Amino acid sequence: MKKETEEKLACSLTAETTELLPFLPYLLQDLWELGSSPKEMVGLIEKHLPVSQETRILDLACGKGAVSINIAASLNVSVCGVDLMPEFIECANQKAKELKVDSLCRFLCGDANEAVNTERNYDGVIFGGAGNILGSPQETLSKLLKTVKPGGYLLMDEAYLPDGSGSEEIKFKYEYLTREQWMRLFEDNGLRLVEELPSTEGYDFDSDNKAIALRADELIAKHPEKRAIFEGYVRSQLNECEDLENNVAAVTWMLQRL
Ligand SMILES: C[S@@+](CC[C@H](N)C(=O)[O-])C[C@H]1O[C@@H](n2cnc3c(N)ncnc32)[C@H](O)[C@@H]1O
Repeated sequence: MKKETEEKLACSLTAETTELLPFLPYLLQDLWELGSSPKEMVGLIEKHLPVSQETRILDLACGKGAVSINIAASLNVSVCGVDLMPEFIECANQKAKELKVDSLCRFLCGDANEAVNTERNYDGVIFGGAGNILGSPQETLSKLLKTVKPGGYLLMDEAYLPDGSGSEEIKFKYEYLTREQWMRLFEDNGLRLVEELPSTEGYDFDSDNKAIALRADELIAKHPEKRAIFEGYVRSQLNECEDLENNVAAVTWMLQRL
């Protein structure tokens, strides 16, 4: 894997060093949802996208498939999920079987940057909490748009810098745009804003953080020489949650390709 891809993969999972990559499946083993709220995504699709048996949804950087599987189970539509972590794809396949929606789900282990060159004509494309893995915001939109059919929808879980707040306060280093900058990009790319939801309201970050901290302690006991990176991971998770609660505005945008 290219160094840049590895670095972005680590960053998408809030890890400050690629040294953590082999340990992330262990650290995150107690979490199924890794970013977006499945309930919110299902609700938006149900509300705006006329679903039928032919409807096809693509979930790029699908993690362990929490969003895709909930969509398949609630709306009885076909979903394709792509993620770079083989352990996450394995978990997604297992969950789809457990919930008896495996016939509706296809999970592929691979780079979303490559999937956008082959996956085409989707009714809905989800890009949830995956940050800059597809490049700059403009590159991200260009790549995502290749996979959505005209009139189809894009669902993005993002965070923006609220007016007047400075990036100096942000703890987990990541370049955020303002809402206005995003809106201009949507317009320039022929995307109409259909709905915007604040996306972290009511989310219980504490229980996720506790679960990760316990797994980090187990890893420290096994690999004491790596204590600093495991402690660093627990700290980055706390910092990211603090950013989401206080310093940036987390949103889910539903957009239509005109
Ligand atoms: C914060 S998680 C979000 C997962 C999922 N969308 C969700 O909301 O539950 C970010 C995901 O991006 C995946 N990822 C990072 N780089 C990727 C790439 N180049 N191609 C595909 N997936 C990637 C990670 O493995 C991780 O599962």
